[in-house]
Amino acid sequence: MREYTLTTQVRVLTMEELTPEESRLVELAKKATYSSYSPYSHFCVGAALLLENGETVCGSNQENASFPVGCCAERTAMHYAGAHYPGVGIKVLAIAARDTSGEFTSEATAPCGMCRQALAEAEHRFGPIRILLYCTEGVHCIDSVGELLPMTFTSESL
Ligand code: THU
Repeated sequence: MREYTLTTQVRVLTMEELTPEESRLVELAKKATYSSYSPYSHFCVGAALLLENGETVCGSNQENASFPVGCCAERTAMHYAGAHYPGVGIKVLAIAARDTSGEFTSEATAPCGMCRQALAEAEHRFGPIRILLYCTEGVHCIDSVGELLPMTFTSESL
């Protein structure tokens, strides 16, 4: 038998320890939670992307009475970016969420599996995406999507 372990490195920083560019992106993600359409889960998620061309793009979760039709904040932002800035890579993704109390979560909200796969495609096409997960106890920073989705299935796996 052969065995190996895959690890994920996460650094938890204070808002003050972020670069001005990163803290601005986190603030945009927090603001984006207020455009969430989430009458079913009452869980408001905001995402903000910093693109390679310096543009920022935001998104929030958009739900539907037919639940699977809804779209997460991350993919709402990514698909907007893909439609408006085709061929431009993503440098940083910030995520924030408010729970049913209306307050920002005290634990990091990480992208769901489907969003990780969508992000993995962008990372495979353009290069590493830094991920910033805001919560009231700090900002969880991860250097790439690969850290969150190891053994990634990409176009090269086909
Ligand atoms: N959601 C996101 O938008 N992003 C995540 O990273 C996790 C979950 C949304 C989907 C749904 O509208 C609500 O949060 C509850 O799952």
